Amino acid sequence: MMLDFAPETENQKAKIHQVITDAFGRTQEAELVDKIRNSPNFIPELSLVALENGDVLGHILFSRIFINAPHQIPALALAPLAVKPQRQRQGIGSQLVQVGLSKCRQSDYPIVVVVGNPHYYRRFGFQKASQFGLHSSLPIPDEAFMILELKPSALININGNVCYPAYFNEV
Ligand SMILES: CC(C)(COP(=O)(O)OP(=O)(O)OC[C@H]1O[C@@H](n2cnc3c(N)ncnc32)[C@H](O)[C@@H]1OP(=O)(O)O)[C@@H](O)C(=O)NCCC(=O)NCCS
Repeated sequence: MMLDFAPETENQKAKIHQVITDAFGRTQEAELVDKIRNSPNFIPELSLVALENGDVLGHILFSRIFINAPHQIPALALAPLAVKPQRQRQGIGSQLVQVGLSKCRQSDYPIVVVVGNPHYYRRFGFQKASQFGLHSSLPIPDEAFMILELKPSALININGNVCYPAYFNEV
């Protein structure tokens, strides 16, 4: 299976919306992507699609957030990640995360945070954020909030809070 990974284009937006809606079985996560796109936190080159013969099979988005530690540290939030239901468990999600993280490493951002299943995200190097003294503003279990350093030593002295933009509370 040969896949291409590329930043989203304007004419893929509707297909991305459909893939995310189908993957989650509801529209909230697809609507979150629309809200992020319309916010100053959107980074077009970090909204990536997995393509097979031009067809969108999956999507991943990294957007800008701030860690209050207590000085503000800019960071990236991975959310959401979605693979078309018929094509799940074939490694597409993992490739999207890996390609995405390598693009994130080329940016100036020092840290990525994610809310998700620790069993899934640990394999990419994410660790429980609370062990570094970092907590999130979202009502989620402690172990679901994870962090990954992109720059050496980025996790030293980051005790604080990630204040997610309000649109994350609507998911
Ligand atoms: C989670 C998801 C993106 C993974 O993509 P994928 O292409 O199926 O994943 P991969 O084939 O790369 O990896 C498969 C692994 O993911 C695990 N996995 C698949 N769906 C999962 C889910 N909803 N929650 C946790 N783990 C999941 C599988 O158990 C498998 O783990 P294993 O290697 O230990 O057996 C995809 O299943 C999906 O879109 N799910 C619905 C939306 C969602 O829950 N998104 C993630 C939160 S933002």
